[in-house]
Amino acid sequence: MQRLQRVKELLKEHHQEHLLAFWVELNGAEREELLSEIEQIDWNIFSPEAHIGPVKGDISPIEGLLVPEIEARRREFFEAGKAAIQAGKVAALLLAGGQGTRLGYPGAKGTVNIGLSRPLYIYECLINNLLEVTKACGAYVPLYIMTSGKTDSETRAFLKEHAYFGYPEEEVRFFLQDMAPATDFSGNILLEERGRLALSPNGNGGCFSSLKRAGLWEEAKKRGVEWFNVFAVDNVLQRIADPVFVGATVLSNANCGAKFVKKCEPHERVGVLCLRGGVPDVVEYYDLPEEMANLRDERGELVYSFGVILNYLFKREALESIERSTIPVHLAKKKVPYLNEAGEKVVPETENAYKYETLAVDIVRLMGSCLPFEAVREHEFAPIKNATGADSIESARELLQKNGVKL
Ligand code: UTP
Repeated sequence: MQRLQRVKELLKEHHQEHLLAFWVELNGAEREELLSEIEQIDWNIFSPEAHIGPVKGDISPIEGLLVPEIEARRREFFEAGKAAIQAGKVAALLLAGGQGTRLGYPGAKGTVNIGLSRPLYIYECLINNLLEVTKACGAYVPLYIMTSGKTDSETRAFLKEHAYFGYPEEEVRFFLQDMAPATDFSGNILLEERGRLALSPNGNGGCFSSLKRAGLWEEAKKRGVEWFNVFAVDNVLQRIADPVFVGATVLSNANCGAKFVKKCEPHERVGVLCLRGGVPDVVEYYDLPEEMANLRDERGELVYSFGVILNYLFKREALESIERSTIPVHLAKKKVPYLNEAGEKVVPETENAYKYETLAVDIVRLMGSCLPFEAVREHEFAPIKNATGADSIESARELLQKNGVKL
């Protein structure tokens, strides 16, 4: 069957025939591009079964490894983690495909200069932190960097120009995350241009399927990688491949480790580690019932206080059995510029569309077992999310200075 005919049937099946509305106006290259964008759509993300459903079971508190115990066993954990790193069993996976809309910076977030008296870039902070570990362990850690169409070329060029801030180039691999189309609230896929879909990164939960698609999963396996430390681009105090965390997780026999900080107040906007239906999981702050958010134990401490900071260790073997389709798809309401039926560009002032995303945090539940591992907030949590106020460049600078980093 002819390619165009196949695509038309696909669109008919999914009630998206309008995507070819401007077909006759497109030149050869534009037609080619549009067809390939349509062919790459993962239609599963639109099926209602893929979307996050009702809460799966009762929520109850989870036990975790707290700072006093970590300190008491620090040497033991460190040695176990160091051994794993030296044996090449640990890889770092940097999630750098996000659009950073809240920060409002036009480029890739990692390239932001947060220095005061000298340049100090977000990527530089992360690599400095990683270098501390590799020095202490006497071995490098393979660094996989997930970019998206929005951040890829800039990130590659930036890191090359800065000689990877001292990290060996041969240890760094880039891969592109998949994109997903946005739809209006009735489920119609939006066009950004006459020959282009309104695509955006498909959320950080797609990191392993994108790693596979890039051929790097197999490569990591051949290199002997057994653990992936997944972390966010925007926490400049992030400890990466922290040997103490690695050692504790390996020794615990869990399939996953999750760093957390104690919540600073009941309604802090972070996901909370807990058990759901008896399985380790993360409840988003907006899903945590009010009485649970406020619940305190006999010492007056919050019962649901393990706030995740997007720093996870996932066991490769356990990831192997996870199907991409089992990671729930979240619908996020966003403002997405689009082309209307008359072919005019519309830049909406209010939310008009759904973006479809899977989240790394949802992988925790799929792993079946998890070691919650406490990190000291003042030393490990300085995220840059917003332009001003909480979790901004300003608040991160303050925390960096408190940790002795010269700005
Ligand atoms: P966030 O949701 O905090 O980042 O993702 P964002 O999407 O860039 O920010 P806003 O919401 O638009 O302001 C946490 C981490 O996951 C990465 C981000 O780059 C960040 O490191 N991420 C997010 C991806 O790699 N891909 C995505 O599709 C989304």
